[in-house]
Amino acid sequence: MGEVRLVTLDLLKEDPEVLAYIDGGNAHLGAMGFTDHGQRHAGLVAAIAGNVLERLGFPEREQELAAIAGFLHDIGNVVSRYFHAQTGAAIAERLLASRGMDPKEIATVIGAIGSHDPEDSATAVSAVSAALILADKSDVHRSRVRNQDIHNFDVHDRVNYAATRSFLKVDPAAKTICLQLTVDTAISPVMEYFEIFLTRMLACKRAAEFLEAQFELDINNVRLL
Ligand SMILES: [Fe+2]
Ligand SMILES: [Fe+2]
Repeated sequence: MGEVRLVTLDLLKEDPEVLAYIDGGNAHLGAMGFTDHGQRHAGLVAAIAGNVLERLGFPEREQELAAIAGFLHDIGNVVSRYFHAQTGAAIAERLLASRGMDPKEIATVIGAIGSHDPEDSATAVSAVSAALILADKSDVHRSRVRNQDIHNFDVHDRVNYAATRSFLKVDPAAKTICLQLTVDTAISPVMEYFEIFLTRMLACKRAAEFLEAQFELDINNVRLL
């Protein structure tokens, strides 16, 4: 093992090797007709995951680890959509170790990445992992849809396109983590949202419980969970 160096989100965001893999994974998913999983999604999930731990009073470096896990979590799509959580964890291990990150920190980051998917079994294994699951599953937004033809939208496109606003509100005093969505019901009925996102919401519920908080879902100012 070489010298231990402090690896930060800012460094990774400017790292050509990291960005090439994120872009490559996003291109593969694009070819399969999936919504955006590129630098926009990576950056947003990084910011939200870090924020969740900040709001709940976790140490700064742990917030940073959540942000790093958030930025790298979908990198495994460069290999394949299938098992992308596990391949992504292996790729992240190599990237972070070769940049000198403390192995204890790497352990936390790759455990979170490896546990963020599949949706129906995503179970938080640490605070960083819980923050990552909540951040990833709450990125539902119009800007993620790549299909240009509204008539060819599948249900995922429709639900994402209908979401004009999404915000994960963490209330440390009330111990609640609320996903607030604004959904255009002319495009997608709220029912469709549930059809797709029920498993995600259950993963969020488990993740929030790991952080000793309660998960809430609010669509168009109506509390649904
Ligand atoms: Fe993923
Ligand atoms: Fe993701």
